[in-house]
Amino acid sequence: MHKDPHGLTVHSDAGTELEVQDFLYAMVCLLRPRLVVETGCFDGRTTLRLVHAAELVGYTRVLTCDTDPARVLETCQRLSGNAPVWDVRNCRGIDLPELRQADFVFCDSDYAARVEEMLAVKPGAIIVVHDTSISYNHEIPPLAGWVEAHGGIALQTWRGFGILKVPAGGWQS
Ligand SMILES: C[S@@+](CC[C@H](N)C(=O)[O-])C[C@H]1O[C@@H](n2cnc3c(N)ncnc32)[C@H](O)[C@@H]1O
Repeated sequence: MHKDPHGLTVHSDAGTELEVQDFLYAMVCLLRPRLVVETGCFDGRTTLRLVHAAELVGYTRVLTCDTDPARVLETCQRLSGNAPVWDVRNCRGIDLPELRQADFVFCDSDYAARVEEMLAVKPGAIIVVHDTSISYNHEIPPLAGWVEAHGGIALQTWRGFGILKVPAGGWQS
């Protein structure tokens, strides 16, 4: 583990900072959503924290996905032994039907896929989107501008993260 330039703790460049994982854990404990969806599980460390929060709430389910079968397997192995409140699928986030039903979404898949995923989330749901300060695709600007243009707040860490609530009438309202 090492510290990023903002002082947050990271296992790897692709994995979410421990402090952001703590924030997601707290959000699920506070908001008590019925269905949590993560897009892009990677090594499953964040998914595990979401599952721990779901176990505390008692009725929350956690669904995650990845396009890389090795990441799906790794995440399943990491989650095994926890309460059966979770599921891991080998697919793109946008292809998860449950993305459209989730009450809380952690949007963290391929950088180019994230806007389409967020636009699919239902009215009233909360979205946390990662990496709003740094783009991982040279053709796409950092997502902070998109988040703020859609009524959310983009918080400044090294990688950044944004918080949005989908408007009651959907994104067009
Ligand atoms: C930044 S990592 C995810 C980190 C993880 N959420 C965490 O908190 O540590 C992005 C992951 O998304 C996966 N991925 C790429 N394109 C995807 C897509 N369209 N849908 C879902 N996952 C995708 C990659 O294989 C990679 O494991």
